[in-house]
Amino acid sequence: MFTIIFLLNLLPTGFTQNTQNTLQPSYFTYQEKSVQANLTGSQPHILTIVHYNDNSGTVVVRIGRANYYNYVTNNYCYEQRLLLRVIKADGSVIPMNYENATEIQDINYCAVTTLAKNPLNIYPLFDQYILVTYTHATNTSDTSTYVDRGMVFHWDGTIISKLEFGPSYLSPGTNLNLNEFVINNITPKNGFLRLSTVNDPTSLQITAIATLDGGYALIYTNTTNRTFTSDNILAAQFSANAGIYAIILYCSVDFVFIGHSCIASAKHTQTAAIPSTTTNSVTFYVRIRFLSSGTIQSLDPIIPQNSGNLTDARTLPFGGYALITEVINGQNYNFTLDLYDEKDNLSEYNSPLKQIAANFNGAFDVLQNNTLLVALNETTASWQILLVDLPPLSQYNKIYYGNMHVKEAYPPANFKYLPLNTNMINITFDVPVSLSDANLIIYQKINKEVILRQFINSTNCNNCNTSGEVITLNVLSCTFNDPGGHYFIQMDNNFVKSAEYDEPILGIDQNMWNFQTKNVTSSEKNTDNSGDIGGILRLTNSGSQHFQKLNDSEKHDFFVTLIDQLISMIPTEKGRLKSNEHYQLNTSNILVSLFIHKAKDNETLTAANIKDYLHQLIINKAFTGILTGNVTKLLDETYGFQRSQDIGKKYSALIIIVIMTFIILLILSFIFSLKLKSKNFKTIMSAALKIGLIIPNFVLLILFVAHNSNDIPGLHLPRYFY
Ligand SMILES: *[C@@H]1O[C@H](CO)[C@@H](O)[C@H](O)[C@H]1NC(C)=O
Ligand SMILES: *[C@@H]1O[C@H](CO)[C@@H](O)[C@H](O)[C@H]1NC(C)=O
Ligand SMILES: *[C@@H]1O[C@H](CO)[C@@H](O)[C@H](O)[C@H]1NC(C)=O
Ligand SMILES: *[C@@H]1O[C@H](CO)[C@@H](O)[C@H](O)[C@H]1NC(C)=O
Ligand SMILES: *[C@@H]1O[C@H](CO)[C@@H](O)[C@H](O)[C@H]1NC(C)=O
Ligand SMILES: *[C@@H]1O[C@H](CO)[C@@H](O)[C@H](O)[C@H]1NC(C)=O
Ligand SMILES: *[C@@H]1O[C@H](CO)[C@@H](O)[C@H](O)[C@H]1NC(C)=O
Ligand SMILES: *[C@@H]1O[C@H](CO)[C@@H](O)[C@H](O)[C@H]1NC(C)=O
Ligand SMILES: *[C@@H]1O[C@H](CO)[C@@H](O)[C@H](O)[C@H]1NC(C)=O
Ligand SMILES: *[C@@H]1O[C@H](CO)[C@@H](O)[C@H](O)[C@H]1NC(C)=O
Ligand SMILES: *[C@@H]1O[C@H](CO)[C@@H](O)[C@H](O)[C@H]1NC(C)=O
Ligand SMILES: *[C@@H]1O[C@H](CO)[C@@H](O)[C@H](O)[C@H]1NC(C)=O
Repeated sequence: MFTIIFLLNLLPTGFTQNTQNTLQPSYFTYQEKSVQANLTGSQPHILTIVHYNDNSGTVVVRIGRANYYNYVTNNYCYEQRLLLRVIKADGSVIPMNYENATEIQDINYCAVTTLAKNPLNIYPLFDQYILVTYTHATNTSDTSTYVDRGMVFHWDGTIISKLEFGPSYLSPGTNLNLNEFVINNITPKNGFLRLSTVNDPTSLQITAIATLDGGYALIYTNTTNRTFTSDNILAAQFSANAGIYAIILYCSVDFVFIGHSCIASAKHTQTAAIPSTTTNSVTFYVRIRFLSSGTIQSLDPIIPQNSGNLTDARTLPFGGYALITEVINGQNYNFTLDLYDEKDNLSEYNSPLKQIAANFNGAFDVLQNNTLLVALNETTASWQILLVDLPPLSQYNKIYYGNMHVKEAYPPANFKYLPLNTNMINITFDVPVSLSDANLIIYQKINKEVILRQFINSTNCNNCNTSGEVITLNVLSCTFNDPGGHYFIQMDNNFVKSAEYDEPILGIDQNMWNFQTKNVTSSEKNTDNSGDIGGILRLTNSGSQHFQKLNDSEKHDFFVTLIDQLISMIPTEKGRLKSNEHYQLNTSNILVSLFIHKAKDNETLTAANIKDYLHQLIINKAFTGILTGNVTKLLDETYGFQRSQDIGKKYSALIIIVIMTFIILLILSFIFSLKLKSKNFKTIMSAALKIGLIIPNFVLLILFVAHNSNDIPGLHLPRYFY
């Protein structure tokens, strides 16, 4: 009894809870249409399952039908088509087929080693991009002509770019190991690293991972003899006279602790003291935690219950790890999963999944939301994936924001009532943090478009405060300005680091921290008393030079784009901003005029609001969307938006005179036409109208020029600077 209590005390809460629960599988089935007539009768096999590393839950599945059996490699060659199926979190599937067998040749669809590995690999990059790497030969019977290539596909099937990686070490029919690694940067948009190694697969295991500081770590086993004096189990494994090589090496970010971690199984060969006697080989397992600097934090032995046939390992995003056994069973694999918690205890879960009949290739994957996917036996026209949400196996029962180090945040995820113009956000971590070197980006989703509202760079942030586990960041009051707006915040990896270890901390992905600003009710809505507002923007030196080179129609396009971009960045309704397309050269800068229309009844922002937001956006150009628009980035951040004297008020007398003239002209022309009863009546009438219309326009242009010519020399005239 005592023992049981003792054990339960040791167990993390999440673990205890899940031992009582049963893991419930669900299934995803997809119907394939066969397009290769001679293979209609054979099953589409799932060859690989991979996922995007952005917490979107998007999975890419590669399928292929067995085409013929290759007796050299003792493996199947698949149909000569690259068939990818993108499965989105909502269950929709986007099929992508690439059929050019001159570019991706047959050799890529065949296993080249007895390890059944294909030279073709797929790597989801980011957004809607997938990298495919393959080997290409100008002469397939001459191994010296083999080169490694890559193509980046968009989900719509278009090829975004083609890459040449250089000579390939692939020689068909030999047992050379194909060790290719394409490692996405920890922030995938920053690129990827590709490595290829040539070695005998049985002697050396190598792996590479993206580290949280934006770099990469190459992890390999060192077969040097070592001597350990300590008498613990692990040290004994590393004892003298032992050659060590790894069989399994799986590394990733450590989701629970700071840093990275690897699970390795290694074989040590005990050479007998007397030569020519038998050597023993012993397999052992370790979990290694280390920091980016290379410092080893811990080295713990693992005692798997199912040691003999272990084939793979995975660190689980919600804590703990999985050891995987795949045993060939006829045409399929028997797939067994053993779950271990952070203390290396086997997790006893009740599940019908103790043994899964996986497919022909034993394809599986673990997603960032801790869901295990296993490819099941296919039928002639469909394939099926088993999904099961694995339990959290750390001290944390619930994981928020897809990051175990984040305990809470303000505004909290899914909050719906963030007050407008909130100018502070905060994040509480589970360890003391300090600012590091990356961005935190606030986006707004408007319909299907994503608009950058503000970014904060942790290296040069004046308004960021850290205090123990909490960081507080000031944001511009124009950022959360859109009533009922849908916002999300992305925190890049290494935005903060552990204050204790100086080690980068994992960020928050795009899909995890979503919230909404408060709606404005009609009673709260203030009526727009500000009237129309006229004002001036200034272009930077380079912007002015660019502008002066444009011809008239390009200048027109410039104004149209400027207004479109500003409307979406403020954001406000179309039609609220207008430009008469007048501009003026002052010293070396171009000034352009811009009018803000007052709100009509159902529009949310007053003209004064728009003026303030616009000015704030421009003067903070380096941190707002202004920098991202090809036209708005030409706006001068030292000038902002400066209100011109209200033309209507200042020159109202002039305008009245203009209008009077216009009316008089109209009346005159009418009288004139009546008297003459001329057939030219219409001509005269329209001429009068034209003059009448041209005059006010002309006057306004003069006013704009005159008014600004007087005031230009000073940049910040208090009279106009609002
Ligand atoms: C099916 O057709 C492809 C393309 O024509 C060919 O390469 C392949 O050998 C054929 N497979 C069988 C089993 O006939
Ligand atoms: C995890 O992601 C997969 C794929 O998007 C989804 O089917 C599954 O329901 C998710 N699990 C949880 C617990 O959200
Ligand atoms: C297939 O690829 C080859 C080699 O890259 C290229 O020359 C050919 O134009 C491509 N064929 C088609 C139909 O795109
Ligand atoms: C392997 O380990 C030994 C002893 O620690 C070291 O001297 C040697 O440089 C290492 N080899 C490599 C390739 O890192
Ligand atoms: C390891 O030790 C054995 C026995 O002393 C020796 O034969 C072997 O060469 C050593 N290996 C290395 C890599 O030093
Ligand atoms: C590995 O699997 C084979 C086939 O199922 C079985 O005979 C053998 O006992 C297993 N080895 C261990 C150590 O479990
Ligand atoms: C695979 O699993 C099936 C069903 O559980 C079992 O009958 C069979 O013996 C297993 N095969 C191997 C090789 O372990
Ligand atoms: C897998 O499918 C094939 C063909 O449909 C069938 O012959 C085989 O028995 C199936 N295997 C299992 C384990 O269901
Ligand atoms: C974060 O900000 C909110 C809103 O101002 C505040 O209520 C909360 O106490 C802050 N959290 C921490 C840990 O400071
Ligand atoms: C942050 O700002 C610093 C200094 O201005 C710059 O060197 C760095 O590249 C910026 N970092 C990012 C992630 O943009
Ligand atoms: C805000 O208003 C919109 C449109 O009236 C509505 O669709 C949305 O649900 C409202 N949001 C909240 C949080 O009340
Ligand atoms: C606002 O009103 C105008 C005209 O009454 C209408 O065309 C427009 O769709 C309305 N906009 C919204 C957001 O309700």
